[in-house]
Amino acid sequence: MKYFRKLVGEKCYLSPISMDDVEKYTEWVNDMEIGQFMLFTSSVVGIEKERAMLQKLIENDVVFAIIEKDTNKVIGNCGLHNISDVHRHATFGIFIGEKTFWNQGIGTEAATLILDFAFNILNLHSVNMDVYSYNRRAIRSYEKVGFKYAGKRRDYIFMAGEYHDVLIYDMLASEFNSPYVKDMYAKSISDEAGRSRITIV
Ligand SMILES: CC(C)(COP(=O)(O)OP(=O)(O)OC[C@H]1O[C@@H](n2cnc3c(N)ncnc32)[C@H](O)[C@@H]1OP(=O)(O)O)[C@@H](O)C(=O)NCCC(=O)NCCS
Repeated sequence: MKYFRKLVGEKCYLSPISMDDVEKYTEWVNDMEIGQFMLFTSSVVGIEKERAMLQKLIENDVVFAIIEKDTNKVIGNCGLHNISDVHRHATFGIFIGEKTFWNQGIGTEAATLILDFAFNILNLHSVNMDVYSYNRRAIRSYEKVGFKYAGKRRDYIFMAGEYHDVLIYDMLASEFNSPYVKDMYAKSISDEAGRSRITIV
């Protein structure tokens, strides 16, 4: 068993990352069709560098593999980075490397699951993220998740010979509705008759 069901949705679940997938991750981070939307566009990453980067992410950040539920196949990853224990905030990042799985609602569901972990398990107060202004798919997905536009950095990244704005989105814990954690908790503490002893609001 390579993957483990930590947070479970209808289309995907989030599992700890398996280092066995390092070759697949290396393929994805070198794919410019994906990289044009991500920080790693300008990096040249071989397997050993990717292995070291993944290891660092696993040790320092909260990162999950996104596993497609029907096939049990790894299709991408998502994470919470730069977590502050003082201010209770973090930066969210995501990519689906298997491009045939874009536009099926999986990215939106994976983002919602990791936010559930952020707000209802890690007790974070605020989660923010950056998105390139030309990444219309990601912007639509984040708006579906419930992220709010917070501002922009003008002419902040250089891609394909031009500068582009980077948009900043964020969400507060009070703005988030739990899709998984609260339901799982309520079910697990139900009495034998199946009635919940608590009220989830
Ligand atoms: C961004 C990403 C995580 C979104 O996940 P996804 O599963 O493809 O997204 P979803 O299917 O949940 O939602 C995409 C939405 O954008 C819409 N969309 C797709 N292309 C679009 C475009 N060019 N303009 C506007 N909307 C677009 C889809 O129709 C869908 O909206 P709908 O459900 O209202 O129809 C994924 O596409 C991805 O990993 N892309 C490459 C890497 C990347 O951009 N990472 C994010 C960096 S900030």
